[in-house]
Amino acid sequence: MSQGTSGVDSPATSPCGQPVWDEDRAARWLATADARERQLRPVSDALFDRASLQPGERVLDVGVGTGPTTGQAWEAVRPDGSVTGIDIAPPMIAAARQRVTASEIEWIVGDAASYDFPPKTYDAVISRFGVMFFADPVAGFRNLGEATRPDGRLIMTVWSQLYATGLFGIPYTVATTTLHRLGVEYQGFPPDGILFSLDQPKTIREVLNAAGWADIETTVDNRPIYLPPDPLAAAKMTMASGPVQSLLEGQPEMVRAEVESALTVDYRHRQDESGIGLPAGFIVVAARRS
Ligand SMILES: C[S@@+](CC[C@H](N)C(=O)[O-])C[C@H]1O[C@@H](n2cnc3c(N)ncnc32)[C@H](O)[C@@H]1O
Repeated sequence: MSQGTSGVDSPATSPCGQPVWDEDRAARWLATADARERQLRPVSDALFDRASLQPGERVLDVGVGTGPTTGQAWEAVRPDGSVTGIDIAPPMIAAARQRVTASEIEWIVGDAASYDFPPKTYDAVISRFGVMFFADPVAGFRNLGEATRPDGRLIMTVWSQLYATGLFGIPYTVATTTLHRLGVEYQGFPPDGILFSLDQPKTIREVLNAAGWADIETTVDNRPIYLPPDPLAAAKMTMASGPVQSLLEGQPEMVRAEVESALTVDYRHRQDESGIGLPAGFIVVAARRS
């Protein structure tokens, strides 16, 4: 398979019209790539268990980030299969190319919701948290369906609702409680709500049904996700992306320091011999191309 990079046709935007994965957001993600990769390995385990990729299959990985699942997919389908990884953010694909060195993987910079994939090609479309950002979800999943062979499968993970996702909901509560204590005004959630655009099984079924997918199964997975073992490092990571990062955007250093301190104390209380584990609360979705 050839390596390829295409241009981005139309960047996904948030409901308020801002690019969802702009350079700042991509840079924040990349800054914690190693720690995040360790943290999200249990999610990959759930994704790949459900996907059951087989040698020889053709796989499309959507919203690859730094490419951990793309590399793992290649290990599952090699040597006769193929893997294509697509991401809308050029810095992500650049990082993925560096970190995942299998030369057989095809990398694409593009919006998966509208990219002109070869029709009826992939046996499996997979994604770990890369599909919640489509400007028009039904059109996006229809586009992925058209790229999938009849009876091909879609396997993806998405986040549950904020307060059903311990990984986000627990630190978010700690942070908002601190803001209340300080008398600081803040914009109520969701300033960044698109992360939770597929946070309920009912919404997922409606979107996928409308986009031509069948046999839709959703399973909420609450296995623990571990933060960095040092509570301060864990607090810093929490504040670097996701809902707490959005919540604190534009807040003065003093407020940020108070939240960091409150998170550190909370995480210290949760620490046990395995580390600092928070209930994950992600949804594993499986569907078949009808
Ligand atoms: C939460 S990150 C997940 C990255 C990776 N899958 C992982 O689990 O480490 C979401 C990724 O989806 C990408 N993304 C967002 N919207 C996209 C779209 N419409 N098409 C392709 N990629 C997109 C972002 O650039 C980002 O790299």
